[in-house]
Order: sequence, then structure tokens, then C-alpha cells
Amino acid sequence: MAGMKLAEVLVLSCLALAGATSWAQIAQPAPQAPAPRVAASAPLQPAPTRGRLLYETHCIACHNSQMHWRDGRIVRDWTGLVEQVRRWQERARLQWSEADILEVARHLNSTIYRLAPPGRA
Ligand code: HEC
Repeated sequence: MAGMKLAEVLVLSCLALAGATSWAQIAQPAPQAPAPRVAASAPLQPAPTRGRLLYETHCIACHNSQMHWRDGRIVRDWTGLVEQVRRWQERARLQWSEADILEVARHLNSTIYRLAPPGRA
């Protein structure tokens, strides 16, 4: 992405998304979401979790893992991660249950953030 700031890329991809589809469509659960391919670099990955399926169905269109790795990332601890997941599913009007929010937060934690485990629930 030579010469392009991450923020610009994000804004552009979000604009593209906004032009291509409505929020209602984003919020719509994909009928029969295809089973995600397991990357060859992750041979120990078990069957896809609910959190992973939810994230890949509803969230990944707008941002990929680069965003979660960036230096200035917002999430600093488990509570912050849960808050961000809650905020983003609200923004996309997904009306996830608390359990689904936690599933997606767990998915992101086990694949990206690797924060101290939440202890309970
Ligand atoms: C409309 C585009 C868009 C969608 C859809 C979207 N995100 Fe995001 N997300 C962003 C942008 C842009 C940022 C970084 C800027 C910000 O946080 O305000 C971000 C940041 C985040 C962060 C914080 C990353 C950090 O800095 O550590 C998390 C966690 C996150 N999103 C989770 C989700 C989840 C879960 C979903 C699905 C429910 C989702 N996002 C859907 C655009 C989106």
C-alpha cells in the first residue's frame, strides 16, 4: 500500500461498501454462509467456531486483520475488546445477543489480540 495511509484505505473501503450495499443488507444474516476455508498456515485450527463464522459473515467485509494489528489499536484489554465488538455490531444493527458478542470477542482474542483470558464467562 505504498503511499497510502491505512486510514485512507479504510475510509475508501468503507465508502465502497456503503455504495455497494445498504446497512440492511449488511445486517442480513447470509443464508447458508459457506464454511470458511482453513488456511494452510493454521493446521491446528479446529472446526470454525460460531464467533469466527459471525465475524467472517458480518465484519470482515469492512476491515481485515491488518486493522487489529496496527500500532495505534484501540483495544488494550479484554473489556475493551468486548466493548468494540458490541459497538461494531450495534453500528451494523446486527442485534447480537450478549453470548454472540462474547463469541466474536473470543474469536478475535484467540486469533489476533491474545489478551489475558477473561477469567469467567
Ligand atoms: C463500516 C465498516 C466496518 C464494519 C462493518 C465493521 N468495522 Fe470494525 N472497525 C472499522 C474501522 C474503520 C475501525 C477503526 C476505527 C475505529 O475504531 O473507529 C474498526 C475497528 C474495530 C475494532 C478495534 C480495532 C483496534 O483498534 O483494536 C474492533 C475490535 C472491531 N472493529 C470489530 C468489528 C466487529 C466485531 C465487526 C462486526 C460486527 C466490525 N468491526 C464491523 C470499520 C468497520
